[in-house]
Amino acid sequence: MDADIDFVHTGPGTLAGRYLRRFWQPIHRVHDLAPGRALPVRVMGEDFTLYRGEAGPNPSPLPGGEGTNPHLLAFRCAHRGTQLSTGWVEGDDIRCFYHGWKYGPNGQCMDQPAEPEPFCARIQIRSYPVEEYIGLVFAYLGEGTPPSLPRYPDFETERDPRVQAAWPCNYFVRLESIRDEWRIGPVDQGFAGMADIRQIEAEETDSGLLQRGIRSHDDVTVGYVHMPNVHQFTVCGSPPDQSGNGSWESLLWIVPVDDEHFTTFNVTRAARGDESSASYQERRAARAGNIARRKPAEELGEEILAGRLRLADVTDRTMNLNVVQDYVAIVGQSRVADRAGENLGAQDASVALLRSIWERELRALAHDEPLKQWERRVAVRAGKTAAASPEKGSEGC
Ligand code: FES
Repeated sequence: MDADIDFVHTGPGTLAGRYLRRFWQPIHRVHDLAPGRALPVRVMGEDFTLYRGEAGPNPSPLPGGEGTNPHLLAFRCAHRGTQLSTGWVEGDDIRCFYHGWKYGPNGQCMDQPAEPEPFCARIQIRSYPVEEYIGLVFAYLGEGTPPSLPRYPDFETERDPRVQAAWPCNYFVRLESIRDEWRIGPVDQGFAGMADIRQIEAEETDSGLLQRGIRSHDDVTVGYVHMPNVHQFTVCGSPPDQSGNGSWESLLWIVPVDDEHFTTFNVTRAARGDESSASYQERRAARAGNIARRKPAEELGEEILAGRLRLADVTDRTMNLNVVQDYVAIVGQSRVADRAGENLGAQDASVALLRSIWERELRALAHDEPLKQWERRVAVRAGKTAAASPEKGSEGC
């Protein structure tokens, strides 16, 4: 690894931050942003004001859209710097609560009620492109004209994504935990067993990286990283309790909150073509109920990391065992992992490849050289496949 290439820090002006800001990022759940509400959001160490206009006549043509437009502006009012999200929404505009300056969706100041000679025309705060899609609010935080928002047609029937609370760890630790079969196997026997896996393979694709966990010629588990920070994978086993038939397929965006915290945005769909959607929705609803009832995986993970609980004590599947394992394995690597102390082996092929891809792209960005133009494959499917060909994708679990 090139020590000069830093993919850990993502604040404004950093190399990795500049790279990630060239791609649309999810920043909120559509359903959690009510009409007329303003909220503070923090992404890659930057704070913003997210708000939705009051009920309006603009039904969104986008899957998952709510019908009134969300807007994203700078965090602070341009007058004396009060946090703008503490103000209130008027129509499609937002007014600062302190002295009442009002801003439009493009950040242009429109009213300065206490000024005898208003100078609104000279005042504009930054605004950012926002789109709603598959139940998520996406924002483009980079410079210039944004690229078109990547589409995932297989997931467009899904409107109920899950957003994970921020975990105290750098995002890249989670990003390089790509359907980590070797870790899951020995603890959670409901997933692929470690002893069964003969080989982990990884290769670069048009959209990022493909990982294969090979047990036999006709038993290959496939997972993807779509550059820069999206996982696509299939979990075998049935929501809610992973004890029955069925499986689900996930898109997972891993987004830095700051350099020591990340959150994930997870959109799932039924992975089997022969699975009735009614059955799938039933199991999803039951799974959501279980999640609401049980102790948060983050709390259990902290208990284990502090030595007050053992992983082996977490045996009840309704406790979301795999998420607890994720928490312990990922947060246990410290807030910003020390990669200089690592010793990678053959099982880490996809980790090494992902780092090398990131390193290459960041080096190109640093030297103003052309970047690889990643393509989103419309019909990519993750999961088990009957052949080790990335083109065939998944036939289900
Ligand atoms: S600080 Fe916002 S109007 Fe004064």
